[in-house]
Order: sequence, then C-alpha cells, then structure tokens
Amino acid sequence: MNILILGGGGREHSLAWAIKQNPKCDRIIVAPGNAGIAEIAECATFDIEDGDVVAGFCADNAVDFVIIGPEAPLVAGVSDVLRSNGLVVFGCSKAAAQLEASKSFTKEICAACGAPTARYEHFTEAKAACDYATEQGAPIVIKADGLAAGKGVVVAMDIATAHTAIHDMLGGQFGAAGAEVVVEEFMDGEEASFFILCDSTSILPIGTAQDHKRAYDGDEGPNTGGMGAYSPAPILTDDIAAISLRDIIRPTIAEMIKRGTPFQGILYAGLMIKNGQPRLVEYNVRFGDPECQVLMMRLGGQVLDLLHACAENRLSDITPNWGDDHAMTVVMATRGYPGAYKNGTSINNLVSLPETSSEMIFHAGTAIKNGEVVAKGGRVLNVTTRGASLKVAHAKAYALVRQIDWPNGFYRTDIGHRALQL
Ligand code: AMP
Ligand code: GLY
Repeated sequence: MNILILGGGGREHSLAWAIKQNPKCDRIIVAPGNAGIAEIAECATFDIEDGDVVAGFCADNAVDFVIIGPEAPLVAGVSDVLRSNGLVVFGCSKAAAQLEASKSFTKEICAACGAPTARYEHFTEAKAACDYATEQGAPIVIKADGLAAGKGVVVAMDIATAHTAIHDMLGGQFGAAGAEVVVEEFMDGEEASFFILCDSTSILPIGTAQDHKRAYDGDEGPNTGGMGAYSPAPILTDDIAAISLRDIIRPTIAEMIKRGTPFQGILYAGLMIKNGQPRLVEYNVRFGDPECQVLMMRLGGQVLDLLHACAENRLSDITPNWGDDHAMTVVMATRGYPGAYKNGTSINNLVSLPETSSEMIFHAGTAIKNGEVVAKGGRVLNVTTRGASLKVAHAKAYALVRQIDWPNGFYRTDIGHRALQL
C-alpha cells in the first residue's frame, strides 16, 4: 500500500513510524514532514489544505490511502475532496470537523443529545457576555468560538480577567475565530483524553492518555500545546470509559448521524472527571499531539490496519491487540516557548542515541541545516518510551532526555506526576 500522511509534527512522525512496521506498507510519503520523518519516509511539499492539490499529488504518486494528521485540512474539507476523487481517507468530513472548529456547535450537539458538559452561553456582544459572566461569578471560562491554535481559552479565576478576555476576543485578538465567545461554567476535576475510532456504523476505543498543558513543572506557567503525555490514563478507569461511551460519545455519534453529517475518523474527547463522573471539556477531530506519540508507541504496526479499516467502514471486523504496557512522552521545547523563541539552534548528538520499538525520539519541529539537525519550532522533540509500568517508561524517558545535547532546549521534569504520585 502507498500511503500519504498529511502533517509535519511529532504526531505524524509517530504515525509514520508505527505504520512503517506493518508489512502491508510499501511506501510512505509525508507532507510536509520534518528532519526526523525524512529518515524513515519520503517528504513532499505542497499545500495540504487544498483538496485539489492533494488529490493531484495522490494521482501522480499512485497513493492508495491518505491519513490526515492535523485539524486544518479537515476543517478545510480536504477529506471530502479526496473521497469524491475515489481515495480511501482517514479523516472526518468538513461538516463533522465542526466538532473541533466551533465550540458553540459542539455545545449545541451536547445539548441536543444530553451529553454532560459545562453550562454555557454564547455571545457576539461584549456587554451581554460580561453581564452573563458577572452574574455567573468566577471562576469562569471564556473561549473563542473558533480555532485559535490552543490559545483561545481563558480560565478566569476572577471577573476582571474574564471581562478582559471577553473584550480581547471580541475585539479581534484571534481574528474571525473570536467573533463569537462561549462563556462557560468552570469544571473542577482531573482531565483525561479518550481516543475513539468511529466509522459509519461502529466505534472502537483505542486508548486513553493524559497530557500536561502547562509549560513548567508543577503544572505552572502558561498553557502550551502539551509538554508531555502518558498512556493509559489511570483516572480513566474501565467504568468511567464505559460511562463516557454511553453518556457522551455514542449520543454524539448518533446526533451527528441524525443530522446527516456522520463522524468518521478519530474522535478525541477531552473529559473532566470528578467523583467518578465524566463531563465533556471539548472534542478534537484528530489525534492529540503529543498524545498520539504514546498511543503509537503502544499500538505499533497494527495502527495501519485500524486506520484503514476505519476509513473503509470495516471497524466492526477488527480487534486491537493491546498489551499491558505503558508509554510516556516528554516534550523538549525551545527556550522561550510558548512565548518568543529562536529557531535554528543545533541539537548535537541525536544520531548516536538509541531508537527501538520501545524508545524513540520523535521530531516535532526540526530541520536540517548544513547537514546538522536544528530546532525549528516551539515544541521540537518528543522523547517517547514504553515499559511494563509507567514507572519504567518514565525512567527510560528521562534517561534518554538527559542524553540529548541541546543547550537551547528545556523540558518538564515531572511528566506523569499525578499517576506516579511524584
Ligand atoms: P480546550 O481548548 O477547550 O481544550 O481548553 C483548554 C483547556 O482549558 C482544557 O484542557 C482545560 O484544562 C481548560 N478548560 C476548558 N474548559 C474548561 C472548563 N469548562 N472548566 C475548567 N477548565 C476548562
Ligand atoms: N495535546 C493537546 C492537543 O493535541 O490538543
């Protein structure tokens, strides 16, 4: 099978790495890819958000199967164009991608199907939004309705912060993504992520994970795209997973079918769990990054069969083969991230470090300059390991992180602290 993966981060490196282990994979092309991906796959550069361009590339390169990594091409409708060209595609339709692209859309779906989530209202006028926030009281959560690269959420611990966030968002801080704001109840509890493959008739949960969104140890500092993750997430017990499927996931899927816009692809449910009860924080319509890296480390080559079955509506025929293992990924980021940072600093010794089926350094943002690997981006490396317990995976991950010679990088030293009770 000739496979095209769209994207160029740690998520896509881990997808390519796992898929390559499957004997059915003949050729992998990743667009745009990065320096780490280039070691295991071909890389190509074209506009991955233009469906016609992607379809043309597939025709020219005899691509059999397309896997869409990030949300932007899904929201742009690339999967619809590819399907209409007869391609087999892993990735939901543009209409179903609204589950990630619009927070008020998701809230409306939850209301229609009775899925538990935070109470909310949505607004386009600052005064009405501020009045509602004041009436509800702090803490309160303010969200830009559209996609804002993970930065469109302010958890306001006081009303003044809530009002500032409302004015900033409606005042154009995130452009069109902030033309509408959602003001929502603050949910207390512990967060975890649940990943479910969905096709037009079946769903198949493929794992749980927990990530660390804050930049610094102790869950302090600014929010980031994620500084590390581990799988499974012990907080998401089998019982809570079953409740989540019954009360949140299945009703959502049924509601999407009812509206004529079925969801087909990977549904990533961000859940807030308190007293054994899950509530939905948000949906994403793609694998999490870096959560994907730990899932791929645990699933290995079978992921190709799983994603291909999902794309061909054959999920009911397939059973994932889970080990009892645990995986962890530690993100190494450029100093300054998530604020301003400098690109182009050298990472000196990657080639001498081990890469095995249980120990991988996935590249999130790297490039080659004068034959050397350099950082290109905020999140740069994902040191990902697997072991019989989370403790083993953690020890292996940090042993490998400490060997990386990158003076301009930083990382959190406490990934997994909740599960490990560090
Ligand atoms: P989102 O972009 O919706 O994932 O929000 C980013 C982060 O903000 C989430 O992962 C939560 O940590 C936090 N958050 C979002 N909504 C709420 C809420 N209603 N209550 C508490 N925390 C929230
Ligand atoms: N790590 C969070 C996300 O991918 O949205």
